[in-house]
Amino acid sequence: MSQAVDLLDPRLHAGRDLRPLWRELRRTEPVRRQPVDASAGLAVPGFWVVTRHADVLRVLRDARGFSSRGGNMLATLLRGYDSGADKMLVVTDGPRHGALRGLLSAGFGPRGLGAVEESVARSTRALLAEAVARGSGDFVAEVAAQVPLRAICELLGVPEADRARVLELTGTAMLGDESREASVETRIARSEIMRYYLRLAAERRDAPGSDLISLLVGAEVDGRPLSEEEVLLNCYNLVIGGDETARLAIAGGLLALAEHREQWERLRADASLVDRAAEEVLRWTCPVAHVGRTALADTELGGVRIAAGDAVTLWCASANFDEEEFALPDAFDVGRTPNRHVTFGFGAHFCLGARLARVEVRALLSELRLQVGSFRVTGPAPRIASNFVRGVSALPVEFGPAAGRR
Ligand code: HEM
Repeated sequence: MSQAVDLLDPRLHAGRDLRPLWRELRRTEPVRRQPVDASAGLAVPGFWVVTRHADVLRVLRDARGFSSRGGNMLATLLRGYDSGADKMLVVTDGPRHGALRGLLSAGFGPRGLGAVEESVARSTRALLAEAVARGSGDFVAEVAAQVPLRAICELLGVPEADRARVLELTGTAMLGDESREASVETRIARSEIMRYYLRLAAERRDAPGSDLISLLVGAEVDGRPLSEEEVLLNCYNLVIGGDETARLAIAGGLLALAEHREQWERLRADASLVDRAAEEVLRWTCPVAHVGRTALADTELGGVRIAAGDAVTLWCASANFDEEEFALPDAFDVGRTPNRHVTFGFGAHFCLGARLARVEVRALLSELRLQVGSFRVTGPAPRIASNFVRGVSALPVEFGPAAGRR
Protein backbone atom coordinates (compact mmCIF):
# COMPACT_ATOMS: atom_id res chain seq x y z
CA MET A 1 0.00 0.00 0.00
CA SER A 2 2.70 2.48 1.03
CA GLN A 3 4.58 2.20 -2.27
CA ALA A 4 1.63 3.54 -4.22
CA VAL A 5 0.74 6.63 -2.20
CA ASP A 6 1.81 10.15 -3.07
CA LEU A 7 2.02 12.13 0.16
CA LEU A 8 2.23 15.34 -1.82
CA ASP A 9 -1.26 14.89 -3.18
CA PRO A 10 -3.63 17.02 -1.07
CA ARG A 11 -6.55 14.83 -2.12
CA LEU A 12 -4.93 11.81 -0.45
CA HIS A 13 -5.12 13.63 2.88
CA ALA A 14 -8.72 14.73 2.33
CA GLY A 15 -9.90 11.39 1.08
CA ARG A 16 -9.32 8.97 3.92
CA ASP A 17 -8.04 8.25 7.39
CA LEU A 18 -4.28 7.79 6.88
CA ARG A 19 -3.64 6.08 10.22
CA PRO A 20 -3.39 2.59 8.66
CA LEU A 21 -0.81 3.92 6.20
CA TRP A 22 1.24 5.57 8.97
CA ARG A 23 1.09 2.37 11.02
CA GLU A 24 2.44 0.37 8.12
CA LEU A 25 5.21 2.87 7.42
CA ARG A 26 6.28 2.97 11.09
CA ARG A 27 6.48 -0.82 11.06
CA THR A 28 8.10 -1.43 7.68
CA GLU A 29 9.90 1.70 6.54
CA PRO A 30 9.96 4.34 9.28
CA VAL A 31 12.34 6.62 7.37
CA ARG A 32 11.26 6.37 3.76
CA ARG A 33 12.34 8.19 0.65
CA GLN A 34 9.60 9.63 -1.54
CA PRO A 35 10.86 10.67 -4.98
CA VAL A 36 9.17 13.59 -6.71
CA ASP A 37 8.17 13.82 -10.32
CA ALA A 38 11.24 15.08 -12.21
CA SER A 39 9.04 16.87 -14.75
CA ALA A 40 7.44 19.01 -12.02
CA GLY A 41 10.46 21.36 -12.02
CA LEU A 42 11.00 21.12 -8.24
CA ALA A 43 14.30 22.02 -6.61
CA VAL A 44 14.83 18.67 -4.89
CA PRO A 45 14.56 15.14 -6.32
CA GLY A 46 12.69 13.76 -3.32
CA PHE A 47 12.18 13.96 0.42
CA TRP A 48 12.41 11.77 3.49
CA VAL A 49 9.23 10.74 5.28
CA VAL A 50 9.85 10.20 9.02
CA THR A 51 6.96 8.56 10.87
CA ARG A 52 8.14 7.27 14.28
CA HIS A 53 7.72 9.43 17.39
CA ALA A 54 11.33 8.82 18.52
CA ASP A 55 12.80 9.76 15.12
CA VAL A 56 10.61 12.87 14.83
CA LEU A 57 11.84 14.01 18.26
CA ARG A 58 15.45 13.21 17.40
CA VAL A 59 15.33 15.59 14.39
CA LEU A 60 13.35 18.33 16.16
CA ARG A 61 15.83 18.27 19.06
CA ASP A 62 18.75 18.79 16.69
CA ALA A 63 18.35 22.36 15.41
CA ARG A 64 22.09 22.47 14.56
CA GLY A 65 21.92 19.41 12.37
CA PHE A 66 18.59 20.22 10.71
CA SER A 67 17.79 23.69 9.43
CA SER A 68 14.44 25.46 9.05
CA ARG A 69 15.80 28.14 6.68
CA GLY A 70 14.97 26.21 3.52
CA GLY A 71 11.32 26.00 4.60
CA ASN A 72 9.48 24.07 7.31
CA MET A 73 6.81 22.51 5.13
CA LEU A 74 6.74 20.46 1.95
CA ALA A 75 5.59 23.29 -0.31
CA THR A 76 8.63 25.45 0.44
CA LEU A 77 11.14 22.61 0.91
CA LEU A 78 10.41 21.32 -2.56
CA ARG A 79 10.66 24.79 -4.06
CA GLY A 80 14.11 24.98 -2.50
CA TYR A 81 13.71 28.20 -0.53
CA ASP A 82 11.44 30.12 1.80
CA SER A 83 11.21 33.84 1.13
CA GLY A 84 10.86 34.43 4.89
CA ALA A 85 14.21 32.76 5.70
CA ASP A 86 16.21 34.69 8.35
CA LYS A 87 13.32 37.15 8.71
CA MET A 88 10.31 35.16 9.90
CA LEU A 89 10.73 33.31 13.21
CA VAL A 90 9.70 29.84 12.11
CA VAL A 91 12.17 29.75 9.18
CA THR A 92 15.15 31.30 10.97
CA ASP A 93 17.99 29.31 12.57
CA GLY A 94 20.58 29.75 15.28
CA PRO A 95 21.30 32.90 17.30
CA ARG A 96 19.05 35.10 15.15
CA HIS A 97 16.17 32.71 15.78
CA GLY A 98 16.97 32.82 19.51
CA ALA A 99 16.96 36.62 19.54
CA LEU A 100 13.69 36.93 17.57
CA ARG A 101 12.07 34.26 19.70
CA GLY A 102 13.20 35.96 22.90
CA LEU A 103 11.57 39.14 21.67
CA LEU A 104 8.25 37.58 20.68
CA SER A 105 8.13 35.34 23.77
CA ALA A 106 7.53 38.43 25.88
CA GLY A 107 4.07 38.65 24.32
CA PHE A 108 3.33 34.97 24.92
CA GLY A 109 4.15 34.45 28.59
CA PRO A 110 1.55 34.41 31.36
CA ARG A 111 1.82 38.23 31.65
CA GLY A 112 1.58 39.04 27.96
CA LEU A 113 -1.27 36.64 27.40
CA GLY A 114 -3.40 37.49 30.44
CA ALA A 115 -5.84 39.80 28.65
CA VAL A 116 -5.96 37.55 25.59
CA GLU A 117 -6.86 34.55 27.73
CA GLU A 118 -9.72 36.42 29.33
CA SER A 119 -11.02 37.43 25.93
CA VAL A 120 -10.80 33.78 24.73
CA ALA A 121 -12.94 32.69 27.68
CA ARG A 122 -15.45 35.47 27.00
CA SER A 123 -15.71 34.90 23.26
CA THR A 124 -15.99 31.10 23.60
CA ARG A 125 -18.76 31.48 26.19
CA ALA A 126 -20.70 33.97 24.06
CA LEU A 127 -20.25 32.19 20.70
CA LEU A 128 -21.26 28.83 22.13
CA ALA A 129 -24.27 30.37 23.88
CA GLU A 130 -25.39 31.82 20.53
CA ALA A 131 -24.83 28.48 18.78
CA VAL A 132 -26.87 26.63 21.43
CA ALA A 133 -29.62 29.23 21.25
CA ARG A 134 -29.83 28.84 17.46
CA GLY A 135 -30.02 25.06 17.94
CA SER A 136 -28.20 24.16 14.74
CA GLY A 137 -25.54 25.51 12.40
CA ASP A 138 -21.98 25.11 11.11
CA PHE A 139 -19.72 24.85 14.16
CA VAL A 140 -16.60 25.71 12.10
CA ALA A 141 -17.92 29.01 10.75
CA GLU A 142 -19.82 30.05 13.86
CA VAL A 143 -17.48 29.08 16.69
CA ALA A 144 -14.21 27.35 15.73
CA ALA A 145 -13.17 29.99 13.18
CA GLN A 146 -14.10 32.91 15.39
CA VAL A 147 -12.28 32.22 18.66
CA PRO A 148 -8.67 31.99 17.33
CA LEU A 149 -9.05 34.97 15.03
CA ARG A 150 -10.42 37.14 17.79
CA ALA A 151 -7.54 36.04 20.02
CA ILE A 152 -4.98 37.00 17.36
CA CYS A 153 -6.63 40.38 16.83
CA GLU A 154 -6.34 40.90 20.59
CA LEU A 155 -2.69 39.81 20.57
CA LEU A 156 -1.77 42.12 17.70
CA GLY A 157 -3.85 44.97 19.06
CA VAL A 158 -6.22 45.25 16.09
CA PRO A 159 -8.59 48.07 17.08
CA GLU A 160 -12.18 47.04 17.83
CA ALA A 161 -13.51 49.08 14.89
CA ASP A 162 -11.39 47.16 12.34
CA ARG A 163 -12.03 43.66 13.64
CA ALA A 164 -15.04 42.68 11.59
CA ARG A 165 -13.16 43.57 8.38
CA VAL A 166 -9.95 41.83 9.50
CA LEU A 167 -11.89 38.71 10.48
CA GLU A 168 -13.61 38.66 7.11
CA LEU A 169 -10.40 39.22 5.12
CA THR A 170 -8.42 36.64 7.10
CA GLY A 171 -11.20 34.10 6.65
CA THR A 172 -10.99 34.57 2.88
CA ALA A 173 -7.19 34.65 2.81
CA MET A 174 -6.64 31.46 4.81
CA LEU A 175 -8.26 28.94 2.56
CA GLY A 176 -6.40 25.73 3.45
CA ASP A 177 -7.55 23.72 0.45
CA GLU A 178 -4.47 23.06 -1.72
CA SER A 179 -6.24 21.02 -4.36
CA ARG A 180 -7.51 24.25 -5.89
CA GLU A 181 -5.60 27.31 -7.05
CA ALA A 182 -6.05 30.26 -4.72
CA SER A 183 -8.95 32.26 -6.16
CA VAL A 184 -8.56 35.90 -7.16
CA GLU A 185 -10.66 36.78 -4.13
CA THR A 186 -8.26 34.88 -1.84
CA ARG A 187 -5.21 36.58 -3.32
CA ILE A 188 -6.76 40.02 -3.02
CA ALA A 189 -7.68 39.31 0.60
CA ARG A 190 -4.06 38.25 1.30
CA SER A 191 -2.61 41.44 -0.07
CA GLU A 192 -5.22 43.56 1.70
CA ILE A 193 -4.33 41.88 5.01
CA MET A 194 -0.66 42.63 4.40
CA ARG A 195 -1.45 46.26 3.61
CA TYR A 196 -3.59 46.49 6.71
CA TYR A 197 -0.80 45.21 9.01
CA LEU A 198 1.70 47.53 7.33
CA ARG A 199 -0.51 50.47 8.17
CA LEU A 200 -1.01 49.25 11.71
CA ALA A 201 2.76 48.83 12.13
CA ALA A 202 3.35 52.41 10.94
CA GLU A 203 0.75 53.66 13.43
CA ARG A 204 2.36 51.71 16.27
CA ARG A 205 5.77 53.11 15.43
CA ASP A 206 4.38 56.57 16.17
CA ALA A 207 2.13 55.59 19.07
CA PRO A 208 3.16 52.29 20.64
CA GLY A 209 0.75 50.22 22.74
CA SER A 210 1.16 47.02 24.76
CA ASP A 211 0.49 44.69 21.82
CA LEU A 212 2.82 42.43 19.82
CA ILE A 213 3.05 44.75 16.81
CA SER A 214 4.31 47.53 19.08
CA LEU A 215 6.82 45.04 20.50
CA LEU A 216 8.04 44.19 17.00
CA VAL A 217 8.33 47.75 15.70
CA GLY A 218 10.02 48.98 18.87
CA ALA A 219 12.60 46.22 19.18
CA GLU A 220 16.17 45.75 18.04
CA VAL A 221 17.61 42.39 17.04
CA ASP A 222 21.39 42.11 16.53
CA GLY A 223 21.67 45.82 17.20
CA ARG A 224 19.24 47.06 14.55
CA PRO A 225 15.48 47.57 14.39
CA LEU A 226 13.41 45.06 12.42
CA SER A 227 12.70 46.12 8.86
CA GLU A 228 9.14 46.72 7.70
CA GLU A 229 9.25 43.38 5.91
CA GLU A 230 10.43 41.55 9.03
CA VAL A 231 7.66 43.10 11.13
CA LEU A 232 5.10 42.13 8.53
CA LEU A 233 6.37 38.58 8.08
CA ASN A 234 6.32 37.95 11.81
CA CYS A 235 2.77 39.29 12.12
CA TYR A 236 1.92 36.98 9.29
CA ASN A 237 3.64 34.08 11.10
CA LEU A 238 1.36 34.67 14.07
CA VAL A 239 -1.76 34.90 11.94
CA ILE A 240 -1.07 31.81 9.83
CA GLY A 241 0.45 29.96 12.78
CA GLY A 242 -2.39 30.57 15.12
CA ASP A 243 -5.56 30.90 13.12
CA GLU A 244 -6.26 27.86 11.02
CA THR A 245 -4.43 25.43 13.35
CA ALA A 246 -6.48 26.37 16.40
CA ARG A 247 -9.68 26.42 14.37
CA LEU A 248 -8.99 22.85 13.26
CA ALA A 249 -8.23 21.72 16.82
CA ILE A 250 -11.46 23.26 18.15
CA ALA A 251 -13.65 21.83 15.38
CA GLY A 252 -11.85 18.47 15.50
CA GLY A 253 -12.32 18.38 19.27
CA LEU A 254 -16.09 18.60 18.97
CA LEU A 255 -16.08 16.02 16.19
CA ALA A 256 -13.98 13.62 18.30
CA LEU A 257 -16.42 13.97 21.21
CA ALA A 258 -19.35 13.37 18.84
CA GLU A 259 -17.69 10.21 17.57
CA HIS A 260 -16.79 8.97 21.07
CA ARG A 261 -19.93 9.57 23.11
CA GLU A 262 -18.66 7.66 26.14
CA GLN A 263 -15.69 10.08 26.34
CA TRP A 264 -18.07 13.04 26.16
CA GLU A 265 -20.12 11.57 29.01
CA ARG A 266 -16.93 10.99 31.00
CA LEU A 267 -15.80 14.57 30.49
CA ARG A 268 -19.25 15.91 31.28
CA ALA A 269 -19.26 14.05 34.58
CA ASP A 270 -15.80 15.17 35.69
CA ALA A 271 -14.54 18.76 35.41
CA SER A 272 -11.07 17.70 36.53
CA LEU A 273 -10.59 15.98 33.16
CA VAL A 274 -10.67 19.23 31.13
CA ASP A 275 -6.89 19.73 30.92
CA ARG A 276 -6.13 16.13 30.00
CA ALA A 277 -9.01 16.06 27.56
CA ALA A 278 -7.61 19.20 25.88
CA GLU A 279 -4.24 17.46 25.44
CA GLU A 280 -6.00 14.44 23.97
CA VAL A 281 -7.93 16.66 21.55
CA LEU A 282 -4.61 18.19 20.49
CA ARG A 283 -2.96 14.77 20.04
CA TRP A 284 -5.97 13.41 18.17
CA THR A 285 -6.61 16.35 15.86
CA CYS A 286 -2.92 17.21 15.21
CA PRO A 287 -3.74 20.14 12.90
CA VAL A 288 -0.20 20.40 11.50
CA ALA A 289 0.37 17.12 9.66
CA HIS A 290 4.11 17.52 9.16
CA VAL A 291 6.99 19.89 9.71
CA GLY A 292 10.00 20.03 7.43
CA ARG A 293 13.74 20.52 7.77
CA THR A 294 16.88 20.43 5.63
CA ALA A 295 19.77 18.23 6.82
CA LEU A 296 22.93 20.30 7.30
CA ALA A 297 25.33 17.34 7.44
CA ASP A 298 25.39 13.67 6.51
CA THR A 299 23.74 11.71 9.28
CA GLU A 300 21.90 8.51 10.10
CA LEU A 301 18.28 8.28 11.12
CA GLY A 302 16.36 5.09 11.87
CA GLY A 303 19.09 3.05 10.15
CA VAL A 304 18.97 5.15 6.96
CA ARG A 305 21.65 7.51 5.65
CA ILE A 306 20.51 11.09 5.18
CA ALA A 307 22.80 13.35 3.14
CA ALA A 308 23.56 17.03 3.77
CA GLY A 309 21.04 19.08 1.81
CA ASP A 310 18.29 16.45 1.93
CA ALA A 311 14.71 17.54 2.63
CA VAL A 312 13.27 15.76 5.67
CA THR A 313 9.59 15.72 6.61
CA LEU A 314 8.50 14.78 10.13
CA TRP A 315 4.95 13.49 10.23
CA CYS A 316 3.46 14.58 13.55
CA ALA A 317 0.17 13.05 12.36
CA SER A 318 1.91 9.66 12.49
CA ALA A 319 4.10 10.22 15.58
CA ASN A 320 0.99 11.09 17.64
CA PHE A 321 -0.34 7.58 17.02
CA ASP A 322 2.93 5.68 17.47
CA GLU A 323 2.28 2.51 19.48
CA GLU A 324 5.86 2.68 20.82
CA GLU A 325 4.98 5.93 22.59
CA PHE A 326 1.22 5.78 23.29
CA ALA A 327 -0.77 2.98 24.92
CA LEU A 328 -3.76 2.16 22.67
CA PRO A 329 -2.95 5.06 20.33
CA ASP A 330 -6.13 4.69 18.29
CA ALA A 331 -8.34 5.15 21.35
CA PHE A 332 -9.57 8.69 22.01
CA ASP A 333 -9.13 8.84 25.79
CA VAL A 334 -9.97 12.10 27.61
CA GLY A 335 -8.04 10.92 30.66
CA ARG A 336 -4.86 9.95 28.79
CA THR A 337 -1.64 10.41 30.74
CA PRO A 338 1.19 10.65 29.93
CA ASN A 339 0.51 12.33 26.61
CA ARG A 340 3.74 13.43 24.94
CA HIS A 341 2.16 14.39 21.63
CA VAL A 342 4.14 16.42 19.10
CA THR A 343 1.23 18.53 17.92
CA PHE A 344 3.20 21.69 18.73
CA GLY A 345 6.51 20.34 17.46
CA PHE A 346 9.46 20.16 19.86
CA GLY A 347 12.76 21.83 20.65
CA ALA A 348 13.95 25.22 19.41
CA HIS A 349 10.86 25.92 17.29
CA PHE A 350 8.30 24.52 19.75
CA CYS A 351 5.07 26.39 19.03
CA LEU A 352 5.15 29.84 20.56
CA GLY A 353 1.35 29.90 20.67
CA ALA A 354 0.97 26.53 22.43
CA ARG A 355 -0.18 28.14 25.65
CA LEU A 356 -2.79 30.19 23.80
CA ALA A 357 -3.97 27.20 21.76
CA ARG A 358 -4.33 25.16 24.96
CA VAL A 359 -6.36 27.97 26.53
CA GLU A 360 -8.63 27.96 23.48
CA VAL A 361 -9.23 24.19 23.51
CA ARG A 362 -9.75 24.11 27.29
CA ALA A 363 -12.23 27.00 27.02
CA LEU A 364 -14.17 25.05 24.43
CA LEU A 365 -14.33 21.91 26.58
CA SER A 366 -15.27 23.83 29.74
CA GLU A 367 -18.04 25.72 27.98
CA LEU A 368 -19.36 22.59 26.27
CA ARG A 369 -19.66 20.95 29.70
CA LEU A 370 -21.49 23.95 31.12
CA GLN A 371 -23.75 24.90 28.25
CA VAL A 372 -24.47 21.81 26.18
CA GLY A 373 -26.80 18.99 27.19
CA SER A 374 -26.77 17.11 23.92
CA PHE A 375 -25.28 17.51 20.47
CA ARG A 376 -24.98 15.59 17.26
CA VAL A 377 -23.33 15.99 13.89
CA THR A 378 -26.08 16.34 11.31
CA GLY A 379 -24.22 16.19 7.98
CA PRO A 380 -20.89 15.61 6.25
CA ALA A 381 -17.75 17.16 7.76
CA PRO A 382 -15.43 17.47 4.72
CA ARG A 383 -11.70 17.15 5.36
CA ILE A 384 -9.45 19.91 4.05
CA ALA A 385 -7.44 18.89 1.00
CA SER A 386 -3.93 19.71 2.21
CA ASN A 387 -0.73 17.82 2.94
CA PHE A 388 0.12 20.36 5.63
CA VAL A 389 -2.97 21.07 7.73
CA ARG A 390 -5.44 18.44 8.92
CA GLY A 391 -9.05 18.80 9.86
CA VAL A 392 -12.54 19.66 8.68
CA SER A 393 -13.73 22.71 6.81
CA ALA A 394 -17.35 22.47 8.00
CA LEU A 395 -19.14 20.72 10.84
CA PRO A 396 -22.94 20.85 10.79
CA VAL A 397 -24.24 20.28 14.32
CA GLU A 398 -27.37 20.41 16.42
CA PHE A 399 -27.10 21.49 20.06
CA GLY A 400 -29.47 20.99 22.97
CA PRO A 401 -28.94 23.17 26.08
CA ALA A 402 -27.67 21.76 29.37
CA ALA A 403 -30.29 21.08 32.06
CA GLY A 404 -31.07 24.31 33.88
CA ARG A 405 -30.22 26.41 30.79
CA ARG A 406 -33.36 25.69 28.81
C1 HEM B 1 -3.62 23.96 17.83
C2 HEM B 1 -3.00 25.03 17.39
C3 HEM B 1 -1.58 25.07 16.94
C4 HEM B 1 -0.80 24.09 16.39
C5 HEM B 1 -1.20 22.65 16.09
C6 HEM B 1 0.50 24.67 16.13
C7 HEM B 1 1.58 23.95 15.62
C8 HEM B 1 2.86 24.44 15.53
C9 HEM B 1 4.02 23.67 15.17
C10 HEM B 1 4.00 22.19 14.84
C11 HEM B 1 5.10 24.50 15.21
C12 HEM B 1 6.54 24.11 14.95
C13 HEM B 1 6.98 24.39 13.53
C14 HEM B 1 8.35 23.89 13.25
O1 HEM B 1 8.99 23.23 14.08
O2 HEM B 1 8.82 24.11 12.11
C15 HEM B 1 4.62 25.81 15.56
C16 HEM B 1 5.41 26.95 15.67
C17 HEM B 1 4.89 28.20 15.87
N1 HEM B 1 3.60 28.53 16.20
FE1 HEM B 1 2.07 27.24 16.45
N2 HEM B 1 0.49 25.99 16.49
C18 HEM B 1 -0.76 26.27 17.00
C19 HEM B 1 -1.18 27.49 17.50
C20 HEM B 1 -0.46 28.65 17.46
C21 HEM B 1 -0.91 29.95 17.90
C22 HEM B 1 -2.27 30.20 18.54
C23 HEM B 1 0.06 30.83 17.60
C24 HEM B 1 0.11 32.31 17.83
C25 HEM B 1 -0.90 33.12 17.82
C26 HEM B 1 1.18 30.09 17.03
C27 HEM B 1 2.37 30.63 16.64
C28 HEM B 1 3.49 29.90 16.31
C29 HEM B 1 4.79 30.49 16.07
C30 HEM B 1 5.12 31.98 16.09
C31 HEM B 1 5.67 29.43 15.79
C32 HEM B 1 7.16 29.53 15.45
C33 HEM B 1 8.01 29.24 16.67
C34 HEM B 1 9.49 29.22 16.36
O3 HEM B 1 9.88 29.02 15.21
O4 HEM B 1 10.29 29.44 17.28
N3 HEM B 1 0.82 28.78 16.95
N4 HEM B 1 3.24 25.76 15.77
